[in-house]
Amino acid sequence: MEKKNCLILALDVTDRENALRIANEVSEYVDSIKVGYPLVLGEGLGIVKELAELAPVIADFKVADIPNTDRLICEQVFKAGADAVITHGFTGRDSLDSCVKVAKEYGRDVYVVTEMSHPGGVEFFRPVAETIAKMAVDAGATGVVAPATRPERVRDIRKIIGNDLHIISPGVGAQGGSAADVINAGADWVIVGRSIYNSDSPADAAMKICNDMKC
Ligand code: XMP
Repeated sequence: MEKKNCLILALDVTDRENALRIANEVSEYVDSIKVGYPLVLGEGLGIVKELAELAPVIADFKVADIPNTDRLICEQVFKAGADAVITHGFTGRDSLDSCVKVAKEYGRDVYVVTEMSHPGGVEFFRPVAETIAKMAVDAGATGVVAPATRPERVRDIRKIIGNDLHIISPGVGAQGGSAADVINAGADWVIVGRSIYNSDSPADAAMKICNDMKC
């Protein structure tokens, strides 16, 4: 993904019409559009191809299964036109290896969840976040997902992964995180959903976040 605005739209609306309207309105401000279960379950995987005409798509399926099933999921995601997939790491190195292998075959990207952004993200993830980040490096992932709600954790994870891997960071706005703070802490991109797609003017909301970050 090319870094221009440091902003990824989390498009968690559930219908095609709204999804395409919002994506069109904000496309000049975002470097990628993240789609997940809400939109794909609402409209089918075909929406990925339509959105990919506006911006590269990250498929946030938090893939977390045995290696063979992970392979099958990643193949479907990339065949559908996604540029990247988000996977979990707690399933172990063999599962992650399977995702990375498919991504390399297709020339696509893999981002691995380290510690999640919501309050519950500290319960089980916090003690293993650094280990998962290290595994993402060793496995040859493109980058990791780290919480904008805790910039200090983004700083910790950046120290572990160095500068070769990217950090994409959700939790700005509706979850309380500041885009500028987490970019200063070492994130490459912020991921923003509700603060943009629930706004009366998604384009103005996206532009304001870009201006705040001065990325
Ligand atoms: P909001 O509306 O809170 O949307 O701006 C955030 C988006 O990011 C997803 N999300 C996460 N994904 N690790 C992830 O891989 C996380 O820690 C995390 N926190 C939020 C969320 O599903 C939504 O699409």
